[in-house]
Amino acid sequence: MTSSENKAAARQSEGGVTKPIRKVVIPAAGLGTRFLPATKAQPKEMLPLVDTPTIQYVVGEASAAGLDDVLIITGRGKRSIEDHFDRSFELEHSLELAGKTEELELVRSISEMVNVHYVRQGDPKGLGHAVLSARQHIGDESFVVMLGDDVMDPKAEVTKNMLAIHAQTGYSVVALKEVSPEEISSYGCARVETDDDGLVRIMEIVEKPKREEAPSNLAVMGRYVFTPTLFDTLAETPPGRGGEIQLTDGIAALMSKEPVYGYVFTWGRYDIGNKLDYLRATVEIALSREDLGPPFREFLVDLLQTDLDSQHV
Ligand code: G1P
Repeated sequence: MTSSENKAAARQSEGGVTKPIRKVVIPAAGLGTRFLPATKAQPKEMLPLVDTPTIQYVVGEASAAGLDDVLIITGRGKRSIEDHFDRSFELEHSLELAGKTEELELVRSISEMVNVHYVRQGDPKGLGHAVLSARQHIGDESFVVMLGDDVMDPKAEVTKNMLAIHAQTGYSVVALKEVSPEEISSYGCARVETDDDGLVRIMEIVEKPKREEAPSNLAVMGRYVFTPTLFDTLAETPPGRGGEIQLTDGIAALMSKEPVYGYVFTWGRYDIGNKLDYLRATVEIALSREDLGPPFREFLVDLLQTDLDSQHV
């Protein structure tokens, strides 16, 4: 066993189980250039899906998985994220005076969801660099990383299931989902082997390979559970693809020190990193809502049945 394997084994045997993970890192320092002009003066993480900022879905997923210590990595121009998760005394007071109790509870519940902390990344040198800037806050504990471009259906319980694999193994776990060969170059890509216990072990991982060089069609989705050993490897990871310190390269280096597992899931992910998928996510989430779903479905059916062209003749 290497020394970091020993450390992980020690973590695992503490009282027979791994210490429950409480901390999650959400990198939110990106410029959001894919959503200009909407992101010129507001962070992309505050763009709403129906009526809720995308980052609130991610924080809600963390809270549902029992993670109550959230560290958001921010940068310039991200103040509205901090305001969103803070108390809003003026708004609360006005809602109280107006007797709008439902809205008041909604607004209060956001600031009571979890404890939120912030670190500014300063120089945006890539996702690996963003995660490394969480080191001091996380310390020597295992932790979760959740990327805001991936919004998960709460019913899929992706993070919760990954935490269960970590509790069983004591090691890092990366979320993986099959994509088409055309899509693989937009993702980290992993080759895996399944062991006798049904655990999926990652054997190779590369960031955004060309389609013809991809070792598989399993794409890395934005949910990770890491042992703190990741910080050692990230600290030594040189800039990779696009001149940025890549989280995927840090994971590849971690694999030479200790096992890294995969959690393969098949449904429940909304990719909101590009406009078409953002629209799809908006429609699907609206349809799944009790308050909006039925009338919105009716509207969509009507729209499809209408010969739009005939309206313009
Ligand atoms: C990042 C990661 C990539 C991962 C993807 C998931 O890429 O670098 O490995 O597959 O998130 O959404 P980005 O989408 O930030 O370019």
